[in-house]
Amino acid sequence: MTPTTPTTPAPKLRLQNVTKTFLAPRTGQQTLAVADVNLDIQAGEFVCIVGPSGCGKSTVLNMIAGLDKPSTGSIEKDGMAITGPGADRGVMFQDYALMPWQTVQDNVGFGLRHGTPGKPFTPAEREDRIRHFVDLVGLKGSEKKYPHQLSGGMRQRVALARLLANGPDVLLMDEPLGALDAQTRLILQLELLQIWGETAPREQRKTAVFITHDIEEAVFLGDQVVVMSSHPGRVRAVLPIDLPRPRGESARGSARFAQLTDQIWGLIRDEAYRAIGGQSVAKPVEPHAVV
Ligand SMILES: Nc1ncnc2c1ncn2[C@@H]1O[C@H](COP(=O)(O)OP(=O)(O)OP(=O)(O)O)[C@@H](O)[C@H]1O
Ligand SMILES: [Mg+2]
Repeated sequence: MTPTTPTTPAPKLRLQNVTKTFLAPRTGQQTLAVADVNLDIQAGEFVCIVGPSGCGKSTVLNMIAGLDKPSTGSIEKDGMAITGPGADRGVMFQDYALMPWQTVQDNVGFGLRHGTPGKPFTPAEREDRIRHFVDLVGLKGSEKKYPHQLSGGMRQRVALARLLANGPDVLLMDEPLGALDAQTRLILQLELLQIWGETAPREQRKTAVFITHDIEEAVFLGDQVVVMSSHPGRVRAVLPIDLPRPRGESARGSARFAQLTDQIWGLIRDEAYRAIGGQSVAKPVEPHAVV
């Protein structure tokens, strides 16, 4: 992410003065969910968004996805206004959103039934593509299983394979690992980086926007961490994460990793305590706490 200047390359995603107000249909009550959000996200960047519950993270992601519209301001991808959902932006949520009546392979291939406009997949191409992405996420052998026969980690792998199979150039992920147990989550973080293209040249990486409550997860994954504050949701800080890539497990134990997580926790600690009705000064501060 970079400040907007005439010399910087056109960003993959640009949010300018974005504000979102929700209007309750019955009462007419307005909620200013996010205000004055300005962000440039460059192609191939992995950007994580953290912030207290209710600060507007999902609202921002949904607007980039085109599932919702800004009340004021603009969101552009490759210089074009985003006007609705599109196959160029794949979305993944915490709750898998798999179709329970379909097998792994049918879930992965769901978006491929009709191909892309003007270029439909042949049945053979579709099968190849499904096989490729099922293998990529480590689910070979589980193609014919149904979601209820899979663990949470496996289900989220299916959701990831489906996301990738549609060939988006922007990955939008809203707490995709939030429902997983701690160990599976750590493993999937590493796998996600590999799949995103951590070992590939930068120009081959997808652009990723990843929401999480977990500061360590944000630091481990991100090139940048956007810290939001609430009431209304605003961008409080954007921190570049200068940990070298590819990041292995050892990255989590480095002094720099601890510094960065401390810094981010320091930015959101007070609000996080307020959100649960406490005061940060009255309690011992856990520098690596997950908020
Ligand atoms: N459809 C809606 N109608 C009215 N208010 C909404 C709607 N969606 C979100 N809000 C409000 O907007 C604010 C931001 O919500 P949002 O879901 O984006 O927060 P969040 O940061 O994703 O929270 P969490 O971490 O709990 O997922 C909250 O005050 C929420 O109540
Ligand atoms: Mg949310």
